[in-house]
Amino acid sequence: MKGHQIKGFALAAAIAAVALTTLAPSALAQSASAASLGLPSGNGRELVVRACTSCHQADKITAVGHTPDQWDQIIGKMIDKGAKATDSEQDQILNYLASHFPAKIATTNH
Ligand code: HEC
Repeated sequence: MKGHQIKGFALAAAIAAVALTTLAPSALAQSASAASLGLPSGNGRELVVRACTSCHQADKITAVGHTPDQWDQIIGKMIDKGAKATDSEQDQILNYLASHFPAKIATTNH
């Protein structure tokens, strides 16, 4: 019945609208924390914020997962570009990134 379908659609739209408005404030609160956006707390987080978010935001880092080898290469590349971190700081950054942003393939089982 036509009327029934429209009612169902309106209900679904209302639910979606409620879901959106309840999600929006937390998304805004997150982006308010500026450069540290999306970085979970943990050992090395402060280093990443300091050394890795001066040229670009943290979303460049959080967007894609990598293997430890790949992170190692990326950190080396960023050091070449001008990122400031000592060898031991780079180790901590590598540990942090490798444990929080691992390669996606490692977790998907086909
Ligand atoms: C001196 C500026 C600068 C600093 C500091 C810096 N980056 Fe970058 N980063 C860039 C630029 C520029 C790009 C994009 C261009 C490119 O990839 O060559 C980029 C891109 C990236 C990317 C995207 C993938 C890629 O390889 O292009 C990742 C991941 C990344 N940076 C991680 C980091 C991490 C982790 C740190 C801290 C160790 C860091 N960046 C510090 C300049 C910087």
